[in-house]
Amino acid sequence: MEHFLSMKNLSEHEIIKLLKRADQVERTKIVSRETPLFVANLFFEPSTRTKMSFTVAERRLGMEVLDFSQESSSVQKGESLYDTAKTLEAIGASILVIRHPMENVLEQLKNGITVPLINAGDGKGEHPTQSMLDLLTIYQEFHRFNGLKVAIIGDIKHSRVARSNAYALQTLGAEVCLSAQESWQDESLPFSYVSMDEAVEMCDVVMLLRIQHERHDSIQSRNSDDYLTSYGLTIERESRMKNHAIILHPAPVNRGVEIDDSLVECERSRIFKQMRNGVAVRMAIISQLLEDRGTHVADNFNKRS
Ligand code: CP
Repeated sequence: MEHFLSMKNLSEHEIIKLLKRADQVERTKIVSRETPLFVANLFFEPSTRTKMSFTVAERRLGMEVLDFSQESSSVQKGESLYDTAKTLEAIGASILVIRHPMENVLEQLKNGITVPLINAGDGKGEHPTQSMLDLLTIYQEFHRFNGLKVAIIGDIKHSRVARSNAYALQTLGAEVCLSAQESWQDESLPFSYVSMDEAVEMCDVVMLLRIQHERHDSIQSRNSDDYLTSYGLTIERESRMKNHAIILHPAPVNRGVEIDDSLVECERSRIFKQMRNGVAVRMAIISQLLEDRGTHVADNFNKRS
């Protein structure tokens, strides 16, 4: 792999290889290099999970984290993203993790930046590392993707998580269906829409999405209770899920809106497991990208993967 920008163009082999690496990474004792590698996390949008789990992953790989802050950087003087990235590369960052509000922005950086780039979320585009941790959570539960029925439910139109997961799950042989109110449907995604009630009853994985208020053109007038009743996972809907079916949500969760508050930590919920898996998949992606360029982050991790 040269970069990690999108799930759309990853092969089944590449996804499975990374999932196996992530699954193994938790159990592997890592010995750091003597000369640390530097990594820069450039977040131009707010983040808790992605930024913190990248930081934990990088430190667990023995890397030194350059904690870039947009507010205190020369971006405030008008420096472009390209020049910011080029600067961090010049001063020694071996890898750049970037979250940015503009779709496809990393594709544009690829031409001039030589170190690996990792997409930590680009506008409404993709969120491939979130997708990898979702896939790992599903794989740990069912040990397969082929034939699994996965419903992606909610604000599809504004969700980069929906896009990455729909592409990847299709690549892996899962059956994907979408469910959303009409104004949040995205017809560019080649999957069928079903009602919320159909989705919860027929699927093995019920993947809820956060309402992306920050990406809406206008304030939605619907109140929280209305949304939960019409399109959210209520206690009554949860009772109609298959016995073995699980609940995913990329978080942050709007409790009582996309999902009843009491279901966030219920037996079927894997929401906090998803977050734990975020560290392992990010370790796997970083170490794979560096290894593919001949740099080993941790000797005995690589021997065992
Ligand atoms: N799921 C996710 O990307 O969360 P953060 O925005 O907190 O990183």
